[in-house]
Amino acid sequence: MYVCICSAFNEKKVKEALDAGARSTASVFRHIGTSVQCGKCVPTVRDMVRDHCVGDCAHCPNADDHAVAANQDTPSYVPMAAE
Ligand code: FES
Repeated sequence: MYVCICSAFNEKKVKEALDAGARSTASVFRHIGTSVQCGKCVPTVRDMVRDHCVGDCAHCPNADDHAVAANQDTPSYVPMAAE
């Protein structure tokens, strides 16, 4: 199934990016070699990143940039406030 119509990539391409180490929406797009255009696919890509990363924060290259919301049924990653 297509994830991004603008750049014509599917779930398989996102999974390949995640398996190759992409840990953010931006890094998924960079890995695929494109950039966000209309943005409609961003929530889907974000969810796929989150689902791929659940429980793997210790190995996440973006661990310093994200924090896990502890009191939600479904973990979500939110950017930490700039100091
Ligand atoms: S659907 Fe992905 S940028 Fe438009």
